[in-house]
Amino acid sequence: MARKIKTLIGEDGIDRREVGYYSTPDFVAQYITEEMLALNPNGNRVLDPATGKEELLPYFYNAGKEIDSFDIIDYGNHIYSQFQCADFIEFYISRLQCLPMECQEYEYMIANPPYNCHEVAYIKDNKKRLTAAFSVGAYNMYSMFLSAMISLAKDGCLIGVIISDSFLTATLHAKLREQIFSQCSIHELLLCPNNLFWTQGADVRTCIMILQKGRQYQGNIKIVNRPNNIEEFREILANRRFKNITLEEIRLGKDKAVNQFIIDIEPDIITLFKNNIFLGDTYKCVTCISTGNDEKYLSKEKKDGYSVPFYKNPAKRKFKTEPDAYIIDNYMSESLKVKDFMVRNKGFLRDEGIACSSMGLPFSAAYKPLDAVSGVNATIFPGKDNIFWLISYLNSSLVTYLVRGVLIRSNMITSGYVSRIPMIKFSENEKKQLDEVAKDVISGMLSATRAIEIIDIIVFNASKISSTSRRKILKFVENLGKTV
Ligand SMILES: C[S@@+](CC[C@H](N)C(=O)[O-])C[C@H]1O[C@@H](n2cnc3c(N)ncnc32)[C@H](O)[C@@H]1O
Repeated sequence: MARKIKTLIGEDGIDRREVGYYSTPDFVAQYITEEMLALNPNGNRVLDPATGKEELLPYFYNAGKEIDSFDIIDYGNHIYSQFQCADFIEFYISRLQCLPMECQEYEYMIANPPYNCHEVAYIKDNKKRLTAAFSVGAYNMYSMFLSAMISLAKDGCLIGVIISDSFLTATLHAKLREQIFSQCSIHELLLCPNNLFWTQGADVRTCIMILQKGRQYQGNIKIVNRPNNIEEFREILANRRFKNITLEEIRLGKDKAVNQFIIDIEPDIITLFKNNIFLGDTYKCVTCISTGNDEKYLSKEKKDGYSVPFYKNPAKRKFKTEPDAYIIDNYMSESLKVKDFMVRNKGFLRDEGIACSSMGLPFSAAYKPLDAVSGVNATIFPGKDNIFWLISYLNSSLVTYLVRGVLIRSNMITSGYVSRIPMIKFSENEKKQLDEVAKDVISGMLSATRAIEIIDIIVFNASKISSTSRRKILKFVENLGKTV
């Protein structure tokens, strides 16, 4: 049943990137197991569908449980479990034909599903088959693993995972979140520190999640916001320093469009999403050109044939920025000839507007002049009168927090997220002040740093959020690398 996986050279002869192999630290394995056993001490059977070197199993074994495990690779020396060298995804697909499809034998499932920073060849080669098998979509290995575990779990089965946390907010994973909310009770959601897997060369943001199949087990949920480092995390777990919240408080909204998980967000911030319209409801917030071959169609310098300024990703450059490149002059006609060369929003893409960052931690908005164009980064066309005050608002600490702390914690910020920024209400006078600040930065009279201090005062006052929330936001923005 196991498919062949291309293995490339690594320390142990294995290509970690392809199979997604990273060892869970022992204190995490111990913690997840103890919490699952506290929720149900009386279960008997455990399944670890991606067992690796059985890192997650010693504590279940010591508690006298019977354990089955899978892995696509046999790392040898299986002392705690009945091991099968098999592919868990294929196992799940084969169970789709069985009735009941649930694995009745297991009271516990525990996993650190394979994390691949890229879409593995297996998904590419089997996209059609996997998409048919996974109603949540076949986007990456860990999301398919989690979905399969939930589907296979019988009522009451506990599911403990340490997993990439991008499914908490990414639009792509709205259906997986829906599966969790509609089929499971959520007991715990703890964000892990960013450096948890650094020593193994993996820059992955992870969380611990403990679920139980069936919604009737739902009580309060234990949550932990992202700790600064491993030591802090270890201490939090050892002393069980959680916050307890309700199911309502962990979900941004009930609608699928806003079913993101939110962790430790002050109620007055959540109210901003509930009481205001979104940016995309008022202004055009879109993507424009994807060349399909930047090397061929973009030039770093302005030169003959390449004279149209192209704004691709302002990254951390706020208010104003030089173009990232110059695109070929005849981009329109080229897009009609070349399939991968896409030009969207042809009617207005050369208008004055706002180019937003697409990648990287900071969220920035910069002025896009008339006749310049932009890439697949979110670009806003709010009309001339609204450009400058909106640039100021978008560069405020509040918006950085709304985007990076609430809407999307992974690196890619698409126009879908930017469209969902709540538009707090400003008086005409406040808009005028914000407008002037942005223009002063663009004309070189004011530094961006000083401008943001001024903007924050105006924006915080207009938002009416508490001083506790303001402090929290400023701290979050100051420590962006650790907190996101
Ligand atoms: C992140 S590691 C976890 C290893 C160990 N359980 C731990 O927690 O330290 C993920 C494991 O999944 C395995 N794996 C990858 N694809 C798999 C698949 N389709 N079915 C079963 N195991 C798979 C990898 O070989 C790797 O051992």
